[in-house]
Amino acid sequence: MRGHFISFEGIDGSGKSTQIQLLSDHLERQGIVSHVFREPGSTVLSEKVREILLDLQHIELNPISESLLFAAARGQLVNEKIKPALHKGKWVICDRYTDSTTAYQGFGRGIDRDQIDTINHIATMGLEPEITFIIDIPPEVASARLETTDPDRMESTGLEFFQKVRKGYLVISKENPHRCVNINGNQNPGEVFNEIQQVIMNKIEKETICS
Ligand SMILES: Nc1ncnc2c1ncn2[C@@H]1O[C@H](COP(=O)(O)OP(=O)(O)OP(=O)(O)O)[C@@H](O)[C@H]1O
Ligand SMILES: [Mg+2]
Repeated sequence: MRGHFISFEGIDGSGKSTQIQLLSDHLERQGIVSHVFREPGSTVLSEKVREILLDLQHIELNPISESLLFAAARGQLVNEKIKPALHKGKWVICDRYTDSTTAYQGFGRGIDRDQIDTINHIATMGLEPEITFIIDIPPEVASARLETTDPDRMESTGLEFFQKVRKGYLVISKENPHRCVNINGNQNPGEVFNEIQQVIMNKIEKETICS
């Protein structure tokens, strides 16, 4: 039995967590228990790193340090949780993965792309998702959804930054057509999930049924 690795990407408030919940519920109805991980986080060490990264007091964090902290959290998650689950043939769903580093620290904060690719490769040792859903949405729509009464450091960065991140995701998608699927996030949650379900059906469930 082969494991399946699916990641969800998109700017803050695009609907990743909502869709991941819908997907894990959908799988559960078919008797499949998925392993859902959030980035940064999902291991003891990675959650501690998450606290540092999302803490407003660290607003002066320099972009390279920020990227390395994300990579440290990811490296731990890959080795401690993702790889073992995939080896057991489980479904792994990640709320953000390497493309977040490329989109946010690369396209958003302007770190050199080769450096970002190297950092990502070291953290994951080249482990790629089978499917990456990129939920695309205008930052104004996402920001209105978040009702940021208590903005964390990422969310307080501003719309212009998220425009760059959004464009970055679209470049990443073009560069990785073998795994990336763009989904229009500016529709209701059920409509968004229908598109996701179709892709899962075509790419994975058919193959499972036929094998
Ligand atoms: N398709 C949708 N239409 C309208 N509202 C939505 C939709 N999807 C999610 N929401 C709402 O928008 C808010 C953000 O959604 P969600 O938490 O799923 O986004 P996210 O991409 O996980 O955000 P973050 O990056 O901040 O974790 C939530 O209040 C959620 O209920
Ligand atoms: Mg979320």
